[in-house]
Amino acid sequence: MSEPLGVALIGCGTVGGGVAHVLLAHAERVAQRAARPIALRRVVVRDPSKPRDPLIPRDIITTDISSALHDSSVQVVVELIGGTTVAKKVVLDALAAGKHVVTANKALLADSGSEVFEAARKAERTVCFEAAVAGGVPVIRALGESLAANQVTAIQAILNGTSNFILTAMAERGLSYSSALAEAQKLGYAEADPTLDVDGSDAAHKLAILAQISFGVAAKPHEIARQGIDTIDAMDIRFANELGYTIKLLAEAWTSEEARNAERGMRNKNNGQEPSSVPSSALRAPRSVALHVAPVLLRHTDLLAQVRGAYNAVLVYGDVVGETLYQGPGAGRMPTASSVVADLIDLGVGRAQRTFAAARLWSREGRGFTVEPPERVRSRFYLRLLVADKPGVLADITRILADEEISISSLVQHEAQEDGSGAPVPLVIVTHYAATGRFRKALEKINRLTTTSAPAVFFSMGD
Ligand SMILES: NC(=O)c1ccc[n+]([C@@H]2O[C@H](COP(=O)([O-])OP(=O)(O)OC[C@H]3O[C@@H](n4cnc5c(N)ncnc54)[C@H](OP(=O)(O)O)[C@@H]3O)[C@@H](O)[C@H]2O)c1
Repeated sequence: MSEPLGVALIGCGTVGGGVAHVLLAHAERVAQRAARPIALRRVVVRDPSKPRDPLIPRDIITTDISSALHDSSVQVVVELIGGTTVAKKVVLDALAAGKHVVTANKALLADSGSEVFEAARKAERTVCFEAAVAGGVPVIRALGESLAANQVTAIQAILNGTSNFILTAMAERGLSYSSALAEAQKLGYAEADPTLDVDGSDAAHKLAILAQISFGVAAKPHEIARQGIDTIDAMDIRFANELGYTIKLLAEAWTSEEARNAERGMRNKNNGQEPSSVPSSALRAPRSVALHVAPVLLRHTDLLAQVRGAYNAVLVYGDVVGETLYQGPGAGRMPTASSVVADLIDLGVGRAQRTFAAARLWSREGRGFTVEPPERVRSRFYLRLLVADKPGVLADITRILADEEISISSLVQHEAQEDGSGAPVPLVIVTHYAATGRFRKALEKINRLTTTSAPAVFFSMGD
């Protein structure tokens, strides 16, 4: 067997602890798969007095990052401390010291991918990041290697387990948003400060990484239109259900409207059962890609509508293969460690170095795609208003929509309270296809009406 591959683990918390455990408890299996032993040489933490996995030899635990980065018996640095300041320095210093890097840090890659990957190319070293998107689900490898014969035409994904857990609890058990969030926090699915999960930022970071691999675009945060789940009320979940839909927080990338319609049409025709492929005419459409993270109403029968709890799932449409689905645990100690160790094995074998060099991620060359401005994206919309129960209100709203050339597919005004309280009544409108920009303009006007008693709530429809 070849020389061991020496590893320094920077960070040994939830994920780092899992990685150390797999490397030490399954050393033989890992060595077989990597065709060489993978030796844990250093474990760097902030507080060395904290209890750690008993398999970790005490004498390799240290607080000294620099000595780990410059240890000549270390060939790979695994960054698992998180954040974008110390972590960025660790990654850049490791590359400069001639080490390969494995990281699970989506925020770092979304923010500084260009810099990190340029530094890796300059140092002729490799950066692996399977765990940065969808935790234990091998979607980076699927996009970068297994689907390499394809041009990806669209991605639809559930990339934030916390949001999916909350939406599932609201839909299946009728919980309010705040009770579902409290439960997610109690079970350890949500952080004490859940903002990045529920406002769509975390999913946007991951979508930016998927968009880079699939389309070669280095999307800036403002180019990814983002709407979280924190505006979803239990009544929206109920109304969507009555219409035959489930609300999911989706991260989506569509290459062109023609491709989008072709895929959706084919999916509906096939009832989601058969693989489909996009006609080549759709692929000749302009090479732009629309990126957004938002709650979307999916038909109950859609594959992604059936992804429950804290799970992640990624649907990828490729021009050769058609539709493929990847699903599994998107976070957690062992699922994420599974992806990190797979990266180490790939480095051990020498595969990762070759695919990394060929992929030219975040390079200036790009692949000819541009990011489409969010306001140009067309969709059908679910619009829920709380309106005064008096004559003329409906006419005002439909006129505003008509002025923006938005036509209505269905409209349901819910019954007024019988107590004569004059409380506002919910009005649910589903539109035909409309450009997001024009829809938003109509919303601004509707929100100014004195007869609407709360800001309009809206979501796009997945069909
Ligand atoms: N948790 C998940 O399910 C999950 C899933 C996918 C990706 N990720 C990503 O994986 C990364 C790690 O997440 P995590 O949940 O494992 O974090 P965590 O539990 O908070 O662990 C962080 C580790 O880093 C150490 N650390 C922090 N700052 C340090 C510093 N300045 N110097 C030395 N050590 C330092 C901590 O030391 P102490 O132990 O001494 O405090 C701890 O061991 C993040 O980028 C995260 O986004 C996490």
